[in-house]
Parts: sequence; C-alpha cells; structure tokens
Amino acid sequence: MLPRRWLRTDPDRPRRISFGADYNPEQWPREVWDEDVRLMREAGVDVVSVGIFSWARIQPAPGEWDFAWLDEVIDLLHANGIGVDLATATASPPAWLTTAHPEVLPRTREGHVLSPGGRQHWRPTSPVFREHALALVEALAARYGSHPGVVAWHVSNELGCHNAYDYSDDAARAFRTWLEARYGTVAGLNHAWGTAFWAQQYGSFDEILPPRLAATFPNPTQQLDFARFSSDALKAHLVAEREVLRRLSPDVPVTTNFMVMGGTRAMDYADWAHEVDFVSNDHYVTAGRDELAFSAAFTSGIARHRPWFLMEHSTSAVNWQPINRPKRQNELVRDSLTHVAHGADAVCFFQWRQSRAGAEKYHSAMVPHAGSDSRLFREVVRLGGLLRDLDPVAGSDRERGQVAVLFDAESRWAGELDSHPTDRLDYHREALDWWRALTDLGIRADVVPADADLDAYPVVIAPVLHVVPSALRDRLEAYVRGGGSLVATYFSGIVDENDHIWLGGYPGALREMLGIRAEEFRPLADDETEPLSLGVSGDLWSEPIDLVADDVEVLATYTSGDLAGGPAVTRRGVGSGSASYVSTRLGAEGLRALLPELLAPAGVSSELPDSLIGSVELVARRAGDDVFWFLLNRTDDEIALAGVEGEFLVGGGALEPRGVAVLRR
Ligand code: GAL
Repeated sequence: MLPRRWLRTDPDRPRRISFGADYNPEQWPREVWDEDVRLMREAGVDVVSVGIFSWARIQPAPGEWDFAWLDEVIDLLHANGIGVDLATATASPPAWLTTAHPEVLPRTREGHVLSPGGRQHWRPTSPVFREHALALVEALAARYGSHPGVVAWHVSNELGCHNAYDYSDDAARAFRTWLEARYGTVAGLNHAWGTAFWAQQYGSFDEILPPRLAATFPNPTQQLDFARFSSDALKAHLVAEREVLRRLSPDVPVTTNFMVMGGTRAMDYADWAHEVDFVSNDHYVTAGRDELAFSAAFTSGIARHRPWFLMEHSTSAVNWQPINRPKRQNELVRDSLTHVAHGADAVCFFQWRQSRAGAEKYHSAMVPHAGSDSRLFREVVRLGGLLRDLDPVAGSDRERGQVAVLFDAESRWAGELDSHPTDRLDYHREALDWWRALTDLGIRADVVPADADLDAYPVVIAPVLHVVPSALRDRLEAYVRGGGSLVATYFSGIVDENDHIWLGGYPGALREMLGIRAEEFRPLADDETEPLSLGVSGDLWSEPIDLVADDVEVLATYTSGDLAGGPAVTRRGVGSGSASYVSTRLGAEGLRALLPELLAPAGVSSELPDSLIGSVELVARRAGDDVFWFLLNRTDDEIALAGVEGEFLVGGGALEPRGVAVLRR
C-alpha cells in the first residue's frame, strides 16, 4: 500500500492544483528576491523547491553552517503564501568534501574516477558520503522541520541521474552484502548466475565484483543483479535520508523527484514509490508529446493512480540536447495539462528564474532572460490561471484506463542485455508503440508495473515481458482464466528471475497458455521486413511458430519467404478469457491495424466521437460521481468539439492547435 499524503498546508485551505518551480535564490542578489516573490504571486505560484544545490552555501566548510540566507528566503516565501518544498541539499557535494574525501567519487565501469566540477559526483554506497549527507539532513530537519512554511521535504535530486551505476570498491562491498542477503550461500549464487559456464564459479562472496569492463560479455545474471542492486542502493539512500526527516520532522511529507521519461532506465520507480509519501516526477520532452503522455500515464501507474507531483518540466527549451528548440504556441500549456490529466496535482518547472551563469543558463525558466515583460512569462501567468479553473479536479484519482500496458523494469533490464538474439531491441519503444496505437484508436490506456492489479482491465498488453518468474506466470494465467484478454509479444516469457531460460521451447513460461511453440527466434536485419496477411509488415523480429493446442486461432500469417503461411499472430481462448501472441514488431502503425481485432472481443472501443479519434487523446479523472474529461489535441490543427457533452472548465467549442479542453461530465 502506498501512503496517501500530500503537501502539508493549512487544513482550512481547499486543495488546489499547485504551481511553482525550483527556486535558486542563491544565484541572485537579495533585491531580486523581492521581485521574484512579487512575480510568483502574479503568476499564482504557491509552492517552490528550495535548496536543491545549496550544500556548499549552507555548509561552506566542515562544521561551519550558514542558515541566515535560507531563514530569510523561507520566511519571505511563507509571508507571501508560498509553500517551501525544502530540499535536503545533498545532491551535489561541496568541494571541501571531495577534496578531503576523494573516495566518495564514483567509478565508471572502465575504472575511471568521475571528477567533481559537475554535480552528483558521489557513490550511493559510500559510507563517508552517507555520513556527511545525513549530518546535513539532520541539521536542516532540526532547524526547519516545524517551520510552518515548509510543506514537503525533497530528498536529494533526481537520485541516479548521473551516478546510477558506480563500480567502485564501496559498490563492490555493498554488492556482496546485497548478494548474500539475496542468495544466502555462495552455492545459491553459483546456481543463480549459472557459473558452471566459462569457469565463473565463486568460492566465497569476497571474490565477487561488480560487472566491470571485462574481456567479453560479463555474466548476464551478474549484470541483472547489478542493475537490481544499483536501483536498491539509491533507494537505500532515499530511505536513509527519509528516516532522519521522519524522526525530526514527522508532520512534513517526504518525496523525491523520479525521472519517468524516455531513456531513464536504471531506477525501478514502481518499487521506490513505496518509500515516499507521494510520488513526484520530472519530465522533459525528448521524443514528442506521445512520449510525454506515456510517461505521465506510467507515473500515474507507479502512483497507483493517486495524485502525484510534477516536480520539474520546462517552460520551453532545455540546454542538454544536441539542438535545443523552444516550445511552440500552446505547447507549454498542453504539456502541463497532459500531466494534470494523468493525475498530477502540482505543475512545477525547472526553474523559476533563468540563470545568468552556469551550465544551465540557456535552459528556459518561468522568468526568462528577457524578464517578465515577455511572451513566455505571460504564458506562465495564463497557465497559472488555467490551473485555478482546474481546482475542482485537485485530489481526484486518475480514472483507470480501458487497457493496461505492462512496463516491467526487470524485463527491460534483462531483455536488453548483451549477447542476445539482436542488439536492436528497444523495450521502451515497444511499450510506447502499443500505447501510441491505442491512443490513435481513441482508447484510454494505462501503463502499469507488472505487479499492478490487473483484474480491472478487460485487456492487458505485455510487450516484451521477458522475465516471467513462476508467480507472475500464475498471476497472468489466473487473470486470463478469470476472463481477461492478455496480449503478449515476441521475446516474452523467455526467462525466470535468474535469467535462466524456461525450457521446452519459446515463449517459455507463457507457451502452454498460448498453445504455441517456437524452436528458434528469427531476428531481422535492419533493412528486412516480414509482410503479414494483415496488410502490414513486421520488423526487428520474427518466429517460426508451431501450433501445439488444437484451439489456437491464427489472426495473421507471414506471407513471404521461409515463414510464408506460418502463424504470426495467434489467439487462444483459455478459461473465460483469451491469450494472444504477436511474434513480430509491428510498430504503432501495424498495431493500429491489428488492435481492433484484439479489442473488439473484449468489448473495448473508443468513448470518443468518431471525429475526434486519433487527433485527440482522452484522459479521465474521477472525484466521487464527477468524471473530468481531458481532451488533448495531438495535432497542429484546430478541431471542432462536436458531440462532446459536459460543463467546460477549460476551453470549449473547438480545440486550438495543440490545445486542451477539460469538462465535467
Ligand atoms: C533535471 C535537474 C534540474 C535541471 C534540469 C534541466 O535533470 O533535476 O536540476 O538540471 O534537469 O533540464
């Protein structure tokens, strides 16, 4: 069960959609702070994150503390009705610490030490770092833990953003302890890691190392366990800071900003979510608005559909992509409200005022270099107003989708390991393709971890669910027997929790339920495709499938080459439900052609009027009997909203290009 807390605010104040940013006043002279607060009020800002990178300012030398400036900032914000999400300031260690203790610096897989001079240059497992970090947390919690202006604690910052994998000696020691707890005996580890292969047998835990750069592929289970361990090591740091905060400041909820977005893969946030009082996320647009919506949907899945906090996104351009383009008209508002649609009850940005100096001076902010007399600041003020119109939504859960797409950290880690049938597999892309195809068809889709409660969904899609331990297999079978429709793709069900192959043919753990069997994988070359009888083609992967059970229905066949006439997509009735298999990669376009056949028997169809299907993403939130519909224009065209009934809170009549409407139904 995830705890259900939210910002500590005046209990008489009605819940609202919070609005704000990271606020870094230490970058500015004192007189700017007054203007900051005046402009925050003008924009309707009610919460800011303070102190994220302030360690060196708060503790300029060992044993020396400077809180005066922070006292003043927090008091000033509080006096103006702006809550402080106070950071523990441990994200970026000061120069005095890394000079005195270079042993806190992380080491890469190749053995290089990462230098200070950037940020987050610390080992998650360093006892020295931990001691200094917790002393800082303790000092902050003791001083501000009951300050009425502090509405939440913000542990560190984006744990693992730059230091997710550390291969140092500290990491080696902690990895051994972690392995001993997992396996108990070295014999257990030898079995799990399959060390009979390549003479990798260990005589004791002391001989074990992280998977550092090796002569060739390191042991795959060692790699998988190191991925698990690395996520756990960062989580342990989160928990260590949180424990100090809970002890000294029990009334203030604790969160930390996750990075559910595109390429972030090292942290198992579905697991971490159990350790925070509410889920927070940072998201930056890297791969278009569908990826944004997909990530927001997954954040909601991680938060078990309860409200979550959008801690950071950008008002316009970032500074860290090869080419950093500003957002177009309406994108600032649409991006923000897409997150709200998917359950965000706070909309915050990095950062309040655009920096003059430092690595992020070309990164957009709420107050740009041009100042408050700017198009961007006016857009920020407009967004602040729209959030007030959305206050009736605050506190409501996101409504469950019609279909669930499973997103499983272990399958991503294990499925993308080296020495596999293809190195082209992209777990995230596959899941996103399914989500996009569902959205194209006007279906409301969730993205949920594999341990989510599946019974509420008529259809569950398992893209590349590579790791299927027997307990998960049993749960999926029970879901199907109980009436659910499961759709699994290629490279699913192949290994157990130790990355050992399920024997007897593919797709391993799911083979019997699906009633099919493949002896070999047939990955495709980059320029190769496999046409299907559906009229679309697969790429990346194909399989020669034998039908084993008599009652397997073939929904599509391969139509050319060696596989011609062989099954490509199958379905089998099992109990009161069905289990389908898609043996190739169809991409969003191909899946659009296939999905109606998979959805119709389960009674799933779009709730949108036909004229909106494809161009509009529909997301719903529910508060008691009130259902709020968010209609998000995915296109650059204006769209008439014919056939949609309800009381409009935002927009109405027509959707502007990239526009948003919200209505109560
Ligand atoms: C985040 C980080 C912020 C800022 C932002 C820029 O990763 O938490 O401090 O660097 O990215 O996009």
